[in-house]
Amino acid sequence: MAGQQFLDALDQHPFFDVIALGASARSAGKTYREAITQSSGQVAWYVDASRALDRYGDMPVVDAAQLKLDGLDIIFSAVETDAARALEASYATRVPVVSTASAYRYDSDVPILIPAVNGDHSDLVKAQEKRGWRGFVVPIPNCTTTGLAIALAPLHRVFGVERAIVTSLQAVSGAGRSSGVIGLDVVDNVIPYIPGEEEKVARETCKLLGQLANDTIEPADLVVSATCTRVAVLDGHTESVNVALRTPATVEEVVDAMQAFGKDINPGTHPSAPADWLRVLDDPFRPQPRVDRDADGGMATTVGRIRLDPAMGPNGIRFVLVSHNTKMGAAKGAILVAEDLKTRGLLA
Ligand SMILES: NC(=O)c1ccc[n+]([C@@H]2O[C@H](COP(=O)([O-])OP(=O)(O)OC[C@H]3O[C@@H](n4cnc5c(N)ncnc54)[C@H](OP(=O)(O)O)[C@@H]3O)[C@@H](O)[C@H]2O)c1
Repeated sequence: MAGQQFLDALDQHPFFDVIALGASARSAGKTYREAITQSSGQVAWYVDASRALDRYGDMPVVDAAQLKLDGLDIIFSAVETDAARALEASYATRVPVVSTASAYRYDSDVPILIPAVNGDHSDLVKAQEKRGWRGFVVPIPNCTTTGLAIALAPLHRVFGVERAIVTSLQAVSGAGRSSGVIGLDVVDNVIPYIPGEEEKVARETCKLLGQLANDTIEPADLVVSATCTRVAVLDGHTESVNVALRTPATVEEVVDAMQAFGKDINPGTHPSAPADWLRVLDDPFRPQPRVDRDADGGMATTVGRIRLDPAMGPNGIRFVLVSHNTKMGAAKGAILVAEDLKTRGLLA
């Protein structure tokens, strides 16, 4: 799922050219089109446009463990976490890696990056030289953390966030192809548990909103309580968020803080960045995944239903957000991180 979005986003990207494709040994030796063709003969390409498939369909796929690193300036990794742990370490000995996997997210010398939220954490990659690496590994967050961290970042900066309760309604594409979610289980249903997800959302949000000091990140002092569910939506995670702020804020002040967020990111240096990092709507029937997930190329986080929330205490607010899990939450979000690393002189 994420790999296809990478190819779609890298096709015609101004800074990056795809020159090699890796996958598991199962796919090695096939063309990309053959590798994504199911036993029924169906080509399992899920991106709306087929231009990238036309362009890369005949490219050979190599065993990711045998990938030749010569001539590569960056590797985008979108593999399961167990495979990522070994592969990304071996790549990072020579080449920077930007990853959608969780394998390194919680290591003390590894930042989890969203440029507008914590681009300054990227300096931490220099600490990875102590591993003997000439490259580094930078993961993006879990796709459910992404929208939450983007929405909380301006609130944390302006008012302080003490605690947040989030309930997610996550799209089936978030489970990927390999493990996947079976239609028979999810259609006409809500699955109330996604293994490991709630812990990731809580931990990653605090790390993203934390401070870089002495070659590590001091997590933000806030408590996040997550309930993560899977729903029969193709793409786009919806999240209902209740927040206790440290200082009082009106709904208008919350809207102003959200709308001002991310405006310092330059679209010239960050061509994948959304014009509006937080798109705030006042129609009470929005955001909806089908209507809002593709806003700004799937890179905007759309927020609506901003209200005061007395149940969260005197400074409580609540809102609903939608974030595209395979675009901002995966491939395009990782490419945006690479653009930011390049701007900071951390990529060749
Ligand atoms: N889907 C999302 O919305 C999303 C969002 C954020 C982060 N992520 C993360 O991104 C990663 C990929 O997720 P996905 O949804 O794209 O999964 P996916 O559709 O199941 O794709 C997994 C890919 O990993 C490859 N792979 C598996 N084992 C491998 C190995 N040992 N060596 C090399 N390649 C291997 C597979 O290759 P074959 O095709 O050869 O089997 C396949 O291309 C995961 O870590 C996931 O948590 C996903």
